[in-house]
Amino acid sequence: MPDSREPDARAPNPASKIRVQCEINGRAMTLEAYPMARLLDVLREQPGLTGTKEGCGEGECGACAIELDGALVNSCLVPASQAESAKIRTIEGVAGSGLLQNDAVRLHAVQQAFLTHGGAQCGICTPGMILAAVNLLERNPHPSEVEIREGLAGNLCRCTGYTKIFESVVAALRATAAQPPQTESRR
Ligand code: FES
Ligand code: FES
Repeated sequence: MPDSREPDARAPNPASKIRVQCEINGRAMTLEAYPMARLLDVLREQPGLTGTKEGCGEGECGACAIELDGALVNSCLVPASQAESAKIRTIEGVAGSGLLQNDAVRLHAVQQAFLTHGGAQCGICTPGMILAAVNLLERNPHPSEVEIREGLAGNLCRCTGYTKIFESVVAALRATAAQPPQTESRR
């Protein structure tokens, strides 16, 4: 049994920058970062993808949500080294993607619905909220009301009271001819 006090020779030196090769919003990219640098910071600073926001910085609010290999994650908790060979999608990769695209303005139907139905106020939660909704609709194109609320449960908003956000997601469902949920109750 290996001595757990022995340093792992394969582990990256936390004091040295590494090169991280990944795909971001469909483009191959190489990032240079300390292995334990927060992916949130690296994405904002290197490719300049500042749509991803920092709220709590502790994994509690979802403002920093991105997709990592299709899974919604809080990038403030993800070390840069974990992005190696990963496919990342940020809010900048949402417009024009997928089947829900609005051809007229090239916004995703969820983005358009947030605009039309007042789903954003200060905007700090909005990129994470939209990405969470898009992630949900791509996994489940016909979510129930409960499933929508569960899909957004990891994303906190201090401004809207959630009603407008929920209505925006339902409107996006309508816009894509999916069946909206039948009943409504407040979060
Ligand atoms: Fe990452 Fe709040 S900033 S979860
Ligand atoms: Fe301000 Fe949600 S719009 S936190």
